[in-house]
Amino acid sequence: MSDFFDLVKKRQSCRDYDEQRAVEREKLEKIINAALLSPSACNSQPWHFTVVNSKEKSPLIAAAVQKLGLNKFSSSCPAFIVISEESANITSIAGGKIRDQKFAANDIGIATAHIVLGACELGLSTCIMGMFHEEKVKEICAIPKKKRVRLIIAVGYAKSDQLREKKRKSADQTVTYLV
Ligand SMILES: Cc1cc2nc3c(=O)[nH]c(=O)nc-3n(C[C@H](O)[C@H](O)[C@H](O)COP(=O)(O)O)c2cc1C
Repeated sequence: MSDFFDLVKKRQSCRDYDEQRAVEREKLEKIINAALLSPSACNSQPWHFTVVNSKEKSPLIAAAVQKLGLNKFSSSCPAFIVISEESANITSIAGGKIRDQKFAANDIGIATAHIVLGACELGLSTCIMGMFHEEKVKEICAIPKKKRVRLIIAVGYAKSDQLREKKRKSADQTVTYLV
């Protein structure tokens, strides 16, 4: 098992996949289980995960995520995890109203983190995508029209395991310690 902090450094968005290398179903199941164990407001679990890992359906998703010239790399990606939002439970909705928040977005973000880090632990690479043709994705995945697809995660084996330098704001700019 990796050291968690090494894993965080190793995870990076991959935009060049080895299209000859399929993603094993057992690995996808393990990754999804990690998402199912993620925390959510009032344990509401307001999500549905559609795993697309087939020679017929994956290219359809790859086409549907190419929007505004983005995500062209997805054509070589063998698998995708589509995350759609389900209704939160009443306690989460009520708490969110009191706080003027929609906790479901946070919940899906945390589940997404579990997915990308879980995939990285298993030697897979990922790219979170927020840009896609939502109606096309719903059609391919048989997600009801009234639901929202929040994020799609490309999953596959990277062509290269070379790590890029992380470009991040400094801790000075983004962190305050009151100690
Ligand atoms: C909510 C969200 C949406 C994103 N959408 C896209 C996308 O549509 N296409 C893409 O190539 N990368 C997308 N990214 C990846 C970010 O560009 C990337 O995480 C960021 O630049 C940091 O780089 P790293 O993931 O390699 O550390 C998205 C990331 C997040 C969290």
